[in-house]
Parts: sequence; C-alpha cells; structure tokens
Amino acid sequence: MRKTALALLASFTAVLFLAPPLHSEDTYIHYLDNKPEPADCFESRDGYTNVTRTEVEPGLPNVKCSNKTGGVLWWGDPFDGTEPMGDMPIEADYTREEAVVKPRTGQLKYYMPCTACHDGNMVPYPRDKNPRPLAMHQDIVPDSMDLKHGRGAIWCLDCHNPRNRDTFIDHRGGEISLNQPQRLCGKCHGEVYSDWRDGIHGKRIGSWEAGGKKRWWVCTECHNPHTVQVNRFEPIVPEPRPQYPRTRTNADHERGHGAGAGH
Ligand code: HEC
Ligand code: HEC
Ligand code: HEC
Ligand code: HEC
Repeated sequence: MRKTALALLASFTAVLFLAPPLHSEDTYIHYLDNKPEPADCFESRDGYTNVTRTEVEPGLPNVKCSNKTGGVLWWGDPFDGTEPMGDMPIEADYTREEAVVKPRTGQLKYYMPCTACHDGNMVPYPRDKNPRPLAMHQDIVPDSMDLKHGRGAIWCLDCHNPRNRDTFIDHRGGEISLNQPQRLCGKCHGEVYSDWRDGIHGKRIGSWEAGGKKRWWVCTECHNPHTVQVNRFEPIVPEPRPQYPRTRTNADHERGHGAGAGH
C-alpha cells in the first residue's frame, strides 16, 4: 500500500518534471526568450508617446518594454522625463498636489520649432480661417478639406495659432502652450475637461498619498486630434495570454465555472 503510494508519487513527479511545455510557440515566456526587449517603446499612443530605454540608476530601467506589442509594461520611475504641469486656470487636484506632465514638443515630427517655417515669410500667415487645400503636412492630415475632427464645424486655426505656430489658441486669441493640450481641448470639451480634472477621465500614475506627486496624462497622449472622428482612441494591443499549466492545452475548463453553468 505504502509502496504503491510512493510509486504513484514518483511517477507523478516524473510527469511534472519531464513533460514538455505544451504549445510553447505562442506562450509569453517563449516570446520573452526569443525576442530582445526593444530599445524604444510607446506609452499610450503609438508613434507619439515614445520612450527610449535607459537606466534611472544602475540596474533600474526607466521603463520595461514589451517585445510583443512595443508598449510600456512597467515604469521604473514614473516621473522620468516629466516637468511641472504649469499654470492651470482652474483649482483642482493638480493645484493641491505635485502635478507633472510629459512635454509634448519632443514627440512632434515638425517641431523644429514650427516657427522655423511659420515665420510669416517662408510660410505666409494665413489670411483667414476658411478651410483650403494644403500642400503640406499630408502625413498628419491627408485631406485638409475633410479634417476628421468636428464634422466640418472646425478647422486647423480653431486650434493652431496663426500668428505663433509654436502655440495653440484660446477663445480670446490668447496663446496655449503645446505642452498643455488639455487647455486647448477644454475650450470645446468642457465636460470631459472637468472629468479629467477630477480624475474620472484619463490617467495618472505616481503616489496615491493625499497631496503626493503624480504624473497626469494629457489628452494627446491618448487621442490623435486629427483623427478622432474616425478613431476616437486607438486601443493598445493586449499582451499574449500567460502560459497554460503543463497539463492543459486550452482554457475550456474555465467555461464550466460561470454562474449558472449547470454542473
Ligand atoms: C518645413 C516647414 C514647416 C514646418 C517645420 C512646419 N510647417 Fe506647418 N505648414 C508649412 C507650409 C508650407 C504650410 C502651408 C501649406 C499651404 O498653404 O499649402 C503649412 C501649413 C500649416 C497649417 C495649416 C494652416 C496654415 O497656416 O495655412 C497648420 C495648422 C500647420 N502648418 C501647423 C504646423 C505645426 C503645428 C508645426 C510644428 C509642430 C508646423 N506646422 C511646422 C510648413 C511647415
Ligand atoms: C482640434 C484641434 C486641432 C485641429 C482642428 C487641428 N489640429 Fe493640428 N494639432 C493639434 C494638437 C493638439 C497637436 C499636438 C498633438 C500632440 O500633442 O501630439 C497638433 C499637431 C499638429 C502638427 C504637428 C504634428 C507633428 O507630428 O509634428 C501639425 C503639422 C498639425 N497639427 C497640422 C494641422 C493641420 C494642417 C490642421 C488642419 C487641416 C490641423 N492640424 C487641425 C490640434 C489640432
Ligand atoms: C474648437 C473646438 C474643438 C476643440 C479645440 C477640440 N475639439 Fe474635439 N470635437 C469638437 C467637435 C465640434 C466635435 C464633434 C462632436 C460631434 O459632432 O460628434 C469633436 C469631437 C471630438 C471627439 C469625438 C467625440 C465623439 O463622441 O465621437 C474626440 C475624442 C475629441 N473631439 C477630442 C478632442 C481632443 C483630445 C481635443 C484637444 C486636442 C479636442 N477634441 C479639441 C470640437 C473641438
Ligand atoms: C489615458 C487615456 C486618455 C486621456 C489622457 C484622455 N482620454 Fe479622452 N478618451 C479615452 C478613451 C479610452 C475614450 C473612450 C473612447 C471610445 O469610446 O472609443 C475617451 C473618450 C473621449 C471623448 C469622447 C467621449 C466623451 O466622453 O465625450 C472625448 C471628447 C475625449 N475623450 C476628450 C478628452 C480630453 C479633452 C482629454 C484631456 C482633457 C482626454 N480625452 C484625455 C482616453 C483618454
């Protein structure tokens, strides 16, 4: 009796140790083994929230990048590359805590700055705000006569400042920093803007203590302002599922566990 039990135990152990992992080709662990971690990855909007991998201190990377999706998996320092949020017009959480943001200009392909061309000479200041076909920036807005934001109600110069292209424009013709797009969006999307200030819309990382330091995601870290009409938000590709236990080849057993599954 005792011998059989031992033998059983031995063979069970042997199975555990000898059985090869099932379907290892599509498992996460296999992926990590085979593809190196990329040197660059993105935080939320592919191509517009890029981070270069470095170390914040020896052995501590600033971010961990997925070699499957190219997305950031984890932050070694949530405040790396951030700066103070700057003046905001309305009292909210960010005025009672240390609020930081990632500046946007470093992510913009045409920021040389913009006024390198838009100086009134090389590119003349536009005469009015009427939509017209453009011979430039088609990679950003393929057809300026069919801008995919606002269903025809708005155009470039409702957002971009015609006289100082390094800034956005508010309702009174005042300048808004390119690093504070939330103030631009807020001039038309008041409700979402107030949700964002309350932490209901958007995202923050950092310290959860009252008054603690937090990094706030700004609107354009998630939304492409030139495509929201066709694509409000581009979801991030999910990571591959975790590896199944060795004795399973699928997740069918999970199906029987739902409420009222009848077993
Ligand atoms: C290499 C030169 C160059 C740079 C740099 C540049 N632009 Fe332009 N941009 C142009 C030209 C040329 C036009 C006008 C095209 C036309 O009228 O057909 C234009 C037009 C525009 C327009 C359409 C409204 C208008 O003024 O006619 C917007 C908006 C715009 N640019 C935004 C920007 C922003 C924002 C930046 C910086 C992030 C930038 N541009 C950087 C060359 C440039
Ligand atoms: C609803 C507001 C809005 C409208 C309308 C708008 N833009 Fe923009 N644009 C932005 C914002 C905000 C950014 C900065 C995006 C970011 O932070 O990633 C931007 C960035 C840009 C840039 C710089 C992109 C880069 O990668 O360097 C160009 C060029 C540009 N816009 C051109 C245009 C043109 C041309 C039009 C009109 C046909 C237009 N925009 C209409 C809000 C707008
Ligand atoms: C000048 C006014 C104006 C500004 C500035 C503006 N928007 Fe909009 N936005 C609109 C209008 C108008 C619509 C279209 C609403 C409709 O008819 O569905 C819209 C639609 C949207 C939508 C799609 C909403 C939906 O229900 O499908 C998103 C997302 C959006 N905007 C985000 C932004 C972001 C992010 C910014 C700042 C970069 C911004 N907007 C700046 C006027 C504006
Ligand atoms: C962390 C990412 C993130 C940030 C930051 C963010 N949004 Fe959004 N937003 C979303 C998602 C996700 C949706 C839902 C998209 C959908 O329904 O397809 C959304 C929806 C919207 C909509 C359309 C639906 C609605 O509620 O009216 C608007 C407009 C909008 N956002 C504007 C903004 C503005 C303005 C800001 C900055 C003040 C902002 N967003 C910041 C992720 C974000």
